[in-house]
Amino acid sequence: MTQPLAVELADAAATENLGRRLATILTAGDLVVLIGGLGAGKTTLTRGLGDGLRVRGPVTSPTFVISRRHPSLAEGPALVHVDAYRIGSAGEMDDLDLDVDDAVTVIEWGTGLVEHLADSRLEVCITVTEDSRVATLTGYGPRWTGINVATYI
Ligand SMILES: Nc1ncnc2c1ncn2[C@@H]1O[C@H](COP(=O)(O)OP(=O)(O)OP(=O)(O)O)[C@@H](O)[C@H]1O
Ligand SMILES: [Mg+2]
Repeated sequence: MTQPLAVELADAAATENLGRRLATILTAGDLVVLIGGLGAGKTTLTRGLGDGLRVRGPVTSPTFVISRRHPSLAEGPALVHVDAYRIGSAGEMDDLDLDVDDAVTVIEWGTGLVEHLADSRLEVCITVTEDSRVATLTGYGPRWTGINVATYI
């Protein structure tokens, strides 16, 4: 586990910007788990990530389709955006047949459902208080060992 990195998100543009900066470190095979309550900013961050990765948009809330693939408009990896809100078990998650090796995979509401999909993951936890939002980034597994996320953000 990496040292958690806290980033303040002053407004929606800042949330999107964090996603854009995260795109500079992510490559195919990376799994990002977005944690945070209803309306915390998970999809907003994913939109910035999609922009940074230069994938085909628009990135919107995928609630009714569960998983949406955004192909790269450049040479980079595709973005797979999953909303696991309606998924009840890790087994149901497996039924989606996600190929995490082949894309940057971002999952909303995936806690407890997706950790087995890859040996590493980056968790982004957005906490909302009355007057501020903070994203806390923590890497788990060999992919993130020795990587100081703060140097990229
Ligand atoms: N840092 C921020 N400060 C204030 N508003 C923000 C911030 N980040 C995002 N928002 C706004 O919060 C609202 C909800 O954002 P978003 O849809 O991204 O949340 P979500 O976590 O994906 O929600 P859901 O739980 O429904 O999936 C949007 O109106 C967005 O513009
Ligand atoms: Mg959302």
